[in-house]
Amino acid sequence: MSNYLQTVADVYAEAAQQPDDSLCCVSSPVWRLPDLAIPRQMLEMNYGCGSTVDPRDLRDDDTVLYVGVGGGLEALQFAYFTRRPGGVIAVDPVAAMRQKAAENFAEAAKLNPWFRPEFVQLLDGTALELPLARNTATVAAQNCLFNVFKAGDLDRALAEIVRVLKPGGRFCTSDPVTPVALPASLTEDERLRARCLSGCQTLPDYLATLANAGFGRIDVRAKFPYRYLSPREYPDLPAGVMLESVEVAAFKVPDGPDGPMIFTGRTATYHGPRDRYDDGQGNVLPLGIPTPVSDAAARRLERVADIVLTPPTWQAKGGGCC
Ligand SMILES: C[S@@+](CC[C@H](N)C(=O)[O-])C[C@H]1O[C@@H](n2cnc3c(N)ncnc32)[C@H](O)[C@@H]1O
Repeated sequence: MSNYLQTVADVYAEAAQQPDDSLCCVSSPVWRLPDLAIPRQMLEMNYGCGSTVDPRDLRDDDTVLYVGVGGGLEALQFAYFTRRPGGVIAVDPVAAMRQKAAENFAEAAKLNPWFRPEFVQLLDGTALELPLARNTATVAAQNCLFNVFKAGDLDRALAEIVRVLKPGGRFCTSDPVTPVALPASLTEDERLRARCLSGCQTLPDYLATLANAGFGRIDVRAKFPYRYLSPREYPDLPAGVMLESVEVAAFKVPDGPDGPMIFTGRTATYHGPRDRYDDGQGNVLPLGIPTPVSDAAARRLERVADIVLTPPTWQAKGGGCC
């Protein structure tokens, strides 16, 4: 194991022993679902930087792979939907973290009559070599882990996700992104990196990395402020940097006609003389109704008469109104 990955494991072994509220977490609210009681220690160990759980697209027959279990909060939330042994498989190489998650699941079982600890199968393993067979999971998720990986390891972790997802499966991911490249003194600082403060990419690079890994459709579902890195604290920074968190769903589907389809919340609306506009590339725009389009399709449709484009909302949810 390379040195920085050992530092990552050490940081999270410490965070398993003693909950650390300065680690990763943001002020966005945790999903509160009917009949879901979350143990206090699980909440204190919320080391994510957003949410990978979206009640809109989870089904009870999903098989969910969760990479980097932390205190188990999101694995419990996924299990809320799957409710069967093995419905959620959580992988983590840090024994202390798996141990703490197991304790938290035992506590969750006392608080939630519908939940049993075996609804989450806890496995020793690493994101870089997942202990799962090819085409196993319908959903894979990671929250605030992949940003700590250096380029080669990140590509390897993503290739592993693509390998274990079923065709059509979805990778729900939440990570910080940076508006500018950070100085090497920060990116090479192993503890800063492990604490999800300096390993992150710019958003275009993050999306391109997902596309290169083989995800043919990528939805940016949320983007919001995460942490401010100030020159006072980090003198190597020429100016303050506002890191943001992004929540993304990436789908194991073939590319569209324009290449990987990246949806950032842009819509196209046709207002011409016919009842619809068909671009012949899979986008059919009904008269007067804003229709989600990929960024590449939006760039193409901008050149067509009688079509209005809207800017990214960073809340791409897929689908339309009917
Ligand atoms: C930032 S925490 C996020 C925890 C959890 N996802 C959450 O939202 O609370 C990172 C998690 O990844 C685990 N981890 C560290 N190195 C890993 C690796 N190589 N593969 C998988 N998980 C790893 C840590 O033990 C820790 O549980």
